[in-house]
Amino acid sequence: MGYRDVYKAWQEDPEGFWMDAAAAIDWSKPPSAALDDSRAPLYGWYADGVCNICHNALDRHVEAGHGERVAIIHDSPVTGNKTKITYAELLDQVSRLAGALAARGVERGDRVIIYMPMVPEALVAMLACARIGAVHSVVFGGFAAPELAVRIDDCTPKAILAASCGIEPGRVVAYKPMVDEAIGIARHTPEFTVVLQRPQAAAVMTEGRDIDWNAFLDGAEPVGCAEMGGMDPLYILYTSGTTGQPKGVVRTHGGYAVALSWTMGNIYDIHAGDVFWSASDVGWVVGHSYIVYGPLIVGATTVVFEGKPVGTPDAGTFWRVIGEYGVKALFTAPTAFRAIKRDDPEGRMVGDYDTSSLKHLFLAGERADPDTIEWARARLQVPVIDHWWQTETGWAIAANPAGLGLLPVKPGSPTVAMPGYDVRILSEAGEDMKPGELGAVAIRLPLPPGTLSTLWNAGDRFVSSYLSTFPGYYETGDAGMIDEDGYLYIMARTDDVINVAGHRLSTGSMEEVLASHPDVAECAVIGASDPLKGQLPVGFICLNRGCTRDHAEIIDECVRLVRRKIGPVAAFKAAVVVERLPKTRSGKILRGIMARIADGAEYRLPATIDDPAILDEITDGLSSIGYPTR
Ligand code: COA
Ligand code: AMP
Repeated sequence: MGYRDVYKAWQEDPEGFWMDAAAAIDWSKPPSAALDDSRAPLYGWYADGVCNICHNALDRHVEAGHGERVAIIHDSPVTGNKTKITYAELLDQVSRLAGALAARGVERGDRVIIYMPMVPEALVAMLACARIGAVHSVVFGGFAAPELAVRIDDCTPKAILAASCGIEPGRVVAYKPMVDEAIGIARHTPEFTVVLQRPQAAAVMTEGRDIDWNAFLDGAEPVGCAEMGGMDPLYILYTSGTTGQPKGVVRTHGGYAVALSWTMGNIYDIHAGDVFWSASDVGWVVGHSYIVYGPLIVGATTVVFEGKPVGTPDAGTFWRVIGEYGVKALFTAPTAFRAIKRDDPEGRMVGDYDTSSLKHLFLAGERADPDTIEWARARLQVPVIDHWWQTETGWAIAANPAGLGLLPVKPGSPTVAMPGYDVRILSEAGEDMKPGELGAVAIRLPLPPGTLSTLWNAGDRFVSSYLSTFPGYYETGDAGMIDEDGYLYIMARTDDVINVAGHRLSTGSMEEVLASHPDVAECAVIGASDPLKGQLPVGFICLNRGCTRDHAEIIDECVRLVRRKIGPVAAFKAAVVVERLPKTRSGKILRGIMARIADGAEYRLPATIDDPAILDEITDGLSSIGYPTR
């Protein structure tokens, strides 16, 4: 069946569609129904099914005689290590770590924070938690201690599993001091931490609290999989919202396993024994779904790459990895290809390697510009598939499903809605827009299996953030349109979330940090277009009356403050001091207009603007730091 038939089959019988899909995973008690709408508009999936995602990712493959198949290829150009781990070996490591955690009192429902770089142990940690029914929450290494502390306080973990360091090109990032600092800041104190000591930076251990990873595993008894209800939480993944308080997206065992299993074959055309490479990080949703759970659920080999597309050591790294391991599909963010294109504009290095195993390139995480898509297609000679999704959904809302037979590509469009998603373009009043008209992108409820079930500790915020603006719909926070052929186009965010190098960041949280500087009276942060990273944050700072300090010095302090409080991943490096911020008469800061000025785009002055002359100062300030860039 091709895409149109499959989508129609889902539309006509969603319950039957998702019950059929559920048959692809192992249940110790199969569900009697797919959708649970007893608490609408909150929905659940496979409520009375019993399963464990770790069993589906590991045990069942080993039990079926595939223990010798490679589960993980760890390729780390930053350390020079290359390791292969079979399914049997991975199962052994996971079940022993699970046993060690259980022996220390970690139980079903307890939270465990994982703060680790791209090492196999990060996957082992996630799967071990899943195995015993503990809820993992992975925090990306590019976040600083205060961000880690916010997450510690929100999910109150019993334990933290960390590595002593991560390795960025040119520098070793010591993680353990950040864990110590975060525990110092947080109100909640985890009972213990387990630290993977890496040779690049030895962590100083706190007696009585910190346990060495190897010592922890020493003599640990392996344990089996806990029986998890289909709707029991598997993980919490924090993502940026409009404020400094991140949103803890909750994902459950059953629906996630079913959805990922469906996507691996139908979207990515990846099956048992294939090599799949998602060049992202375990700290992001792409890493959760497509470095860890998705590929392992279908018995594929997942590449865990600890490096960058450029500089580790050069722009040929991606092609080397594809050639060396026979990668069938690569998934990354467009920014990675823009970085490669910048270093090797002609793509000459592709010719140095055999990339013939590659069948598809998948891009997501940010808008894929047609130039990048065409550059990649021409160099790699494979279809380049843009697909659109969010941390909240866990898998693609719109894609060109390679496993169902590709539809014609329209550059600039992530193609069509996947089964499970009834995507609509709505006016502010919540009415359907006509084809080609721009509006808010919304999804008719219920969302399919695998999507968020709620926000951790914030059920009300889940409803107010996503379900309230358009009753009966999930609000994606993106604006876009659908054309006559049903192709979707994602144009921009409707909120203050920006996308920097495929990383989702909150300008609101940066504003909170800037506002904490003693000389700052008022501030605004916008996302300005950037040819490499898609967007970069730019700050506007109004100083306290009477402040006579050097502006450059204050800006420098602000830049360092954001790095220290949010982390290097914020990539906050540019700010200007201005007298006033442009506002409406009711006091709303006109961030959208400032962003358009930064991009050199046309804008319409709102009738409600307080004082249009302020925009000249904004334009001058931006031009002093090189905006617009083109
Ligand atoms: N731990 C600690 N620091 C980290 C980090 C981590 N895991 N990841 C990134 N950082 C740091 C970087 O070193 C950089 O620090 P700097 O300001 O001292 O240079 C900063 O955070 C910003 O990182 P990034 O925005 O990634 O910029 P970069 O210049 O290091 O790399 C790209 C740019 C395009 C090569 C890189 O972003 C990339 O490969 N992106 C595409 C793939 C991807 O990860 N997508 C995400 C989701 S699909
Ligand atoms: P994240 O939750 O980090 O995955 O970020 C999700 C957001 O990134 C979406 O809401 C979009 O704004 C943006 N995004 C992700 N994929 C795409 C895409 N293919 N095209 C356009 N924007 C995208």
